[in-house]
Amino acid sequence: MPLKSSRILLIVGGGIAAYKALDLVRRLRERGASVRAVLTQAGAQFVTPLSLAALSGQSVHQDLFSLTDEAEMGHIELSRDADLVIVAPATADLLAKAANGLANDLASTLLLATDKRVLAAPAMNLRMWLHPATRRNVATLRGDGMLFVGPDDGEMACGEYGPGRMAEPLTIVAAAEAALKTQTAIPLPLGVGVRPGATDLPLKGRRVVITSGPTHEPIDPVRYIANRSSGKQGHAIARAAAAAGAEVVLISGPVSVPDPVGVAVTHVETAREMLAAVEGALPADVYIGAAAVADWRVGSAQAQKLKKGASAPPALGLVENPDILATVAGRKSGRPGLVVGFAAETNDVIAHAQQKLARKGCDLIVANDVSPATGVMGGDRNTVHLVGPTGVESWPDLPKDEVAARLVAHLGKLLSGAP
Ligand code: CTP
Repeated sequence: MPLKSSRILLIVGGGIAAYKALDLVRRLRERGASVRAVLTQAGAQFVTPLSLAALSGQSVHQDLFSLTDEAEMGHIELSRDADLVIVAPATADLLAKAANGLANDLASTLLLATDKRVLAAPAMNLRMWLHPATRRNVATLRGDGMLFVGPDDGEMACGEYGPGRMAEPLTIVAAAEAALKTQTAIPLPLGVGVRPGATDLPLKGRRVVITSGPTHEPIDPVRYIANRSSGKQGHAIARAAAAAGAEVVLISGPVSVPDPVGVAVTHVETAREMLAAVEGALPADVYIGAAAVADWRVGSAQAQKLKKGASAPPALGLVENPDILATVAGRKSGRPGLVVGFAAETNDVIAHAQQKLARKGCDLIVANDVSPATGVMGGDRNTVHLVGPTGVESWPDLPKDEVAARLVAHLGKLLSGAP
């Protein structure tokens, strides 16, 4: 959606940077967006509700329990009646509340209740920004899908120098524009929030088996071979498939992302355990191999810890793992109607994916460039190409949630026989 016709909910937290939020309102409105502002109690120490109301042209919301506000627009409606939520300045306190799901004032309640993307522009003292607690909170929020712009390095109001200055209003506007381009409501898990009888569930009645994350292949009891897969993309697909009405079985390698709600999850470590879990979960209508399965394992993993000794370092003696995707795609009986693989490539992405499609006998390959410069492995965004037998469809750079939602919609169409 273009910024021009968008509705922005702007949450102004308490920090010296709040004065820049006033300019942000102007910049957004100049570009045709409508802005509804929420001012925290601390924010009101820095800017007045009157300035925000005058600049936004709308009344300013401050109180969770305001009878007048609730009569006009309840806080749930306020959180949904926007295309994007911007938090500027996003203070350490607001981020901590959001990361922990607290809802003890209007701003934190809105952040918990919204079904839209949230773009945060942090602003705080550099030690607060660099504190491990804030680092943890930001990492959690990124994992939950929150978008960030800034903070910038610079001179602080307190006289110190470093990261913590809020991004400039025009930079926030550019980030908002980018966020709106890929804006969709964040899906809820299976059956939740869905009206009985809803018909817009593209995977309703379908069983979907998905693998996600890396595998760990033991060398000895304390060491293993692994890869950089985070499981974010596979888990996002599991959430999206459940939200689209499917019965989802997720078979996950060792990851630190949480189990999706409304999905049956089996945790495994090795490629061979993953294959056994997949075979146990079939039959299914759709198989999606999003896991980065280790191609090799150590032929004879040691039962006891390998010790450094006088002799040369041990040779690992790798042997090939079973190819789970090719095994599922090649099943003589009980092959899922749609078998979808991923291709993690660092060069010639589409050509390699086309070869993989043929070699593994699957119906669709989701190809992505996982070169370190792309930040895909472990990151929150992905640029994929859908490689099928009849052609290639390339999608723009998107949040992994959005890739998941689009993929699920695409699979729904394929299953219904649509062209
Ligand atoms: N895959 C699998 N079992 C394996 C290896 C890969 O099921 N032992 C699946 C992955 O889940 C993914 C697809 O195959 O859906 C492609 O994985 P990728 O690592 O890109 O390809 P490889 O088959 O490992 O080929 P190469 O390493 O040569 O790129």
